[in-house]
This record gives sequence, C-alpha cells and structure tokens, in this order.
Amino acid sequence: MHELRTPRLLLRQWRQEDLAPYAVLNADPVVMEFFPAPLTTAESNAHAQRQHDLLDSDRPALFAVERRGEGDFIGFIGLAVPRFEAPFTPCVEIGWRLSRNAWGLGLATEGARAVLAHGFDHHRLTEIVSFTTVQNTRSRAVMERIGLVRDPAGDFDHPSLPDGHPLRPHVLYRTAAVTSDTGAKPPERV
Ligand SMILES: CC(C)(COP(=O)(O)OP(=O)(O)OC[C@H]1O[C@@H](n2cnc3c(N)ncnc32)[C@H](O)[C@@H]1OP(=O)(O)O)[C@@H](O)C(=O)NCCC(=O)NCCS
Repeated sequence: MHELRTPRLLLRQWRQEDLAPYAVLNADPVVMEFFPAPLTTAESNAHAQRQHDLLDSDRPALFAVERRGEGDFIGFIGLAVPRFEAPFTPCVEIGWRLSRNAWGLGLATEGARAVLAHGFDHHRLTEIVSFTTVQNTRSRAVMERIGLVRDPAGDFDHPSLPDGHPLRPHVLYRTAAVTSDTGAKPPERV
C-alpha cells in the first residue's frame, strides 16, 4: 500500500477512525456547496470503504489525508476514474475535499502535487484531468496552482445533473505527464 508524504501531510489508506470525521465533513453544507447535496453518514461510509478497497488493490483512488504532527484526519486528495460518459472519458481525474479548518493553508495544493507525481510515476498515466462546476473558484485555483490548464473545448454539462441545474455547467482542466514512457497505460473504468 502506497503512502505519500509531503512536508505537512500524510496521504494514506483509510482507517475506521476516519469515518466519523469524514461523515462530518460530508455533511458540512459549505464544504458541499458545489455538490448536489451533502452526503448521509451511510453514503460517506460507503465512499470511504470504496476508496479503501481501491487503494488495497493499487487502483487510482482518493487517499485519506492527515496532517503530520497533529495526526488529524482532514479529508481526501487523490485520483478517481469518472463513471459517467463524456467526450474526455475514459480518464483519470484528480480531486480533493478538505475540512474547513484546513482551508487557506496551501494543503490541497501541496497534497495534489504529490498525487500528480504518483499518478504519472506509479500508475503510469499519460494524462490526468480535473473538472468542477464553473462557480467552484477555490477548486479551480488549486487546479491552476498545480499546473493544470483549462481546456475550454472540454466544457461540459455534468450528465448526473438535470437540465437547468445551476451546478450542471462544468469546466475541464488537463495536464499531461512531462515524460512519456512506454509503460503508460490508459485508465480502466472501475
Ligand atoms: C477545494 C479546496 C480543497 C481548496 O482549498 P484551499 O484551501 O482554497 O486550497 P489550498 O489548500 O491550495 O490553499 C490555498 C490558499 O492557501 C493560501 N496559502 C497559505 N499558505 C500557502 C502555501 N504554503 N502554499 C500555497 N498556498 C498557501 C493561498 O494563498 C490560498 O489562499 P486564498 O484562498 O486566500 O487564495 C477546498 O475549498 C474544499 O475542500 N472545498 C470543498 C470540496 C470541493 O469543492 N472540492 C472540489 C470539487 S471539484
């Protein structure tokens, strides 16, 4: 099981004791402002379990994130394979969700840089994308800080949201591995 360390963060496998703070995070209406709805505890637990199982089998997944030193669980940063269809799928995306007390410190950017390197070096990906609803400026700023570039041609309406939903219009950001190597492989849907 791979763990990623940065100066301030440990990105690691999910643990039983993460479930309670993760459910609190997923129930926070500010954290979930750009999602259709906060998650129930059951949904939150199932999401954590799924990431645990993906990490166990060394598939692209969202890492549980704790602050080194404090050892407190603050959310996730990692990779995911979107299950919906769009012109840019199949693909691997990078994403993040942190508790509010961990915002404004550069932690998402710090962890995301380590995840990008992990995706390219360990999973041998040829490209990593990210997307979010147009209004999510904080997340878009993380994408830009880690070097992703907006692909305006990739703008799309999220197929999981109904026509006219204010969160439906999404922007797409892309990056490509700096080095291309022969071990690169396309993502599999999971
Ligand atoms: C998206 C999210 C992770 C971004 O968090 P964030 O704290 O804004 O991003 P970072 O951790 O990169 O921190 C950047 C901020 O820290 C500041 N900062 C302080 N020290 C820093 C450092 N060492 N390095 C970089 N930035 C630093 C930056 O100036 C910036 O401040 P600003 O917000 O006033 O401009 C957070 O808002 C979140 O969890 N949102 C809810 C979930 C969500 O929407 N996820 C994305 C779905 S696509």
